[in-house]
Amino acid sequence: DAAASPTRKLLSWYDAHARALPWRAPPGSNALPDPYRVWLSEIMLQQTTVAAVGPYFERFLALWPDVQALAAADDADVMREWAGLGYYARARNLLAAARAVAARGGFPASESGLRELPGVGPYTAAAIAAIAFNEPAVVIDGNIERVASRLFALPDALPAGRARLAAALAPLVPPDRPGDFAQALMDLGATICTPRSPRCLLCPLNGNCLAHATGQQEAFPVKPPR
Ligand code: ADE
Repeated sequence: DAAASPTRKLLSWYDAHARALPWRAPPGSNALPDPYRVWLSEIMLQQTTVAAVGPYFERFLALWPDVQALAAADDADVMREWAGLGYYARARNLLAAARAVAARGGFPASESGLRELPGVGPYTAAAIAAIAFNEPAVVIDGNIERVASRLFALPDALPAGRARLAAALAPLVPPDRPGDFAQALMDLGATICTPRSPRCLLCPLNGNCLAHATGQQEAFPVKPPR
């Protein structure tokens, strides 16, 4: 449908091609995912690949099925289960955040409230707000940065570049499905809009992509000189 907006084309693509990942609701499910699962997965994914996180995520959920259970866990047990994911400050922040959430009776639902949890920075707060709470937050991780840089043919040199990408992306965020929109961009970046040899022929946004229009897709993102 040539007249469909880029947002709708991306969401249609996601409905057909979303990666089945353990922290996502089953395809076609209309319920929002459990904030505990979203938060736990986003913390684990901060410095670890999707493939490596899977088994850890499943083990944590089996041992500590909700945030109250994790808050009550022994520190040493959590550190032992975390071993292998690395960056142990993440595990210490995880426990501190679980205890803060349990004490306040649930996860904050806003980006600013989420930011107050230990270990939750701007990216993670936006991702949890969008995915778990349907907040129209602009989520930009490494994959999304590359996709957006190509889509708008904008350099992403920090720090101003990222703000320009966020401003360009904001009007595309659908109020009805902000979490799916963010995860669709993540999946597009991981499977189609790859750093090298992007598969533009298969991309649902190839008709909207300013870099593709001039064959410049591999020239973006422009990296700052170093
Ligand atoms: N990387 C970080 N968060 C992710 C998510 N929700 N889905 C896929 N990859 C991710």
